[in-house]
Amino acid sequence: MEKTLAFTHRYEPSARAGAPTLLLLHGTGGNEDDLLPLGRMIAPGAALLSPRGKVLENGMPRFFRRLAEGVFDEEDVRRRANELADFIAEARDRYGLPAPIAVGYSNGANVAAAVLLLRPEALDGAVLLRPMMPLRAAPAPDLGGKPVLLLSGAMDPIAAADSTAPLVSALGAAGAQVQHRELAAGHEVSQADITIARSWLASAVHKAEAAIA
Ligand code: MLT
Repeated sequence: MEKTLAFTHRYEPSARAGAPTLLLLHGTGGNEDDLLPLGRMIAPGAALLSPRGKVLENGMPRFFRRLAEGVFDEEDVRRRANELADFIAEARDRYGLPAPIAVGYSNGANVAAAVLLLRPEALDGAVLLRPMMPLRAAPAPDLGGKPVLLLSGAMDPIAAADSTAPLVSALGAAGAQVQHRELAAGHEVSQADITIARSWLASAVHKAEAAIA
């Protein structure tokens, strides 16, 4: 566990040339260890940066405060998204990293969405697992073609379709390359999420390399 930057976090350097850098963002009650196995599965050899959310809800780490299930403290969402974007900049400097692709689950997906909307320069793209729109008054940043994959669960009682649809629209309107899929799943991550995220990431990295060449 590293604690010298603004967030307690794990960092695993890249083990393969050309592998992406992933920012792993856990769900409520998780920690910096939770998504490391997922990161290794969906992007073998990737550099992994995995912070622990600083907000505690009954002792459970989260990335921002909520007033009730699905009702967010938007002032805190903004503050924490900015704090996380600052941490990403700090960690990039410390470890010599490019802008990462966020991989967030549930509350982690929601804070990644807030970072995309509020501090678009911090991320190169995102995989959002069971996301919801985190802001009522969404800003309109220029996402300049950043790739974003959203995976919803058709039987998800937490991130229901009507809470995800405004996020899909806001990201599209901001110029992201959005792919949204609804899986036969609930709120938990399924094998289908892993398979789809893995092939989406491989193709996103391939397109980015082709654009540079
Ligand atoms: C949130 O609070 O971000 C969402 O309701 C997902 C959750 O953490 O349960």
